[in-house]
Amino acid sequence: MKHALVTGASSGIGRKISEALVQDGFEVWGIGRTFQKQAETSLFHPLVCDLRDTDRLLQLSDSIRQAHPLDVVVCCAGVAYYGLHEEVAPARIQEILRVNLESPMILTQHLLRDMKKTQGTIIYISSVTAHLSGAHAAAYAASKAGLSSFAGSIFDEARKWGVRVITIEPDMTETGLYRNADFTTGEEETSRLLPEDVADAVLFALHQPTRSVIRTLTIRPQIQRIRRKARE
Ligand SMILES: NC(=O)c1ccc[n+]([C@@H]2O[C@H](COP(=O)([O-])OP(=O)(O)OC[C@H]3O[C@@H](n4cnc5c(N)ncnc54)[C@H](OP(=O)(O)O)[C@@H]3O)[C@@H](O)[C@H]2O)c1
Repeated sequence: MKHALVTGASSGIGRKISEALVQDGFEVWGIGRTFQKQAETSLFHPLVCDLRDTDRLLQLSDSIRQAHPLDVVVCCAGVAYYGLHEEVAPARIQEILRVNLESPMILTQHLLRDMKKTQGTIIYISSVTAHLSGAHAAAYAASKAGLSSFAGSIFDEARKWGVRVITIEPDMTETGLYRNADFTTGEEETSRLLPEDVADAVLFALHQPTRSVIRTLTIRPQIQRIRRKARE
């Protein structure tokens, strides 16, 4: 049995990735703050943790890795706030950076020695915004640019030990990520990805032969469309 740890496993893309990994024969430990009732199964173990609580994060990951060497770690948790940068409160800027960038860095630091032993795979769910200017999402785009950059550096550091590092950069995907925005995905089916599309990409990248690493995978919907939410 292979073992995986997934952050952001309680909803959206991370939840679909966790389900896909279970289907693929993994036992999965998933981190989030709020899980649906009965999320736990014999192969999926929900762990409640705010990723900004570093002590708890490290304690949880220690308890997993000591019992089960991890083959795959997926850093998927993320948060976004939108608007003109001068209107985004400092606490929200800190939350974006701590969840999207600091927690993957800390988790990687904590688990990298183990991943070298298992010749495991680390997958970072970044975003197309890593390479675009992020008007109205400047802090979010910066967090994703940082994450994609970090992933590339970790690959260069760890590749000779057989650690695979994969960055997935999705475009607009139908999840709750836009709950804080005044816009959302387009109405046309071809204007948005589904979380399962990203999960399929994760499995595709994981199933490459060990000599071959899909370092960065960008997924975009066929057409570009966003729509303004109706005012409440
Ligand atoms: N949706 C898109 O268009 C899109 C595009 C590109 C990249 N992405 C990236 O995909 C990843 C997943 O996002 P999503 O679209 O699936 O949105 P989502 O449904 O809102 O999922 C976000 C996940 O992150 C977790 N999370 C957020 N803050 C946390 C915290 N402080 N502590 C622990 N967990 C926390 C949430 O768990 P709780 O709610 O339980 O706290 C949830 O499981 C993010 O990194 C996002 O940036 C999304």
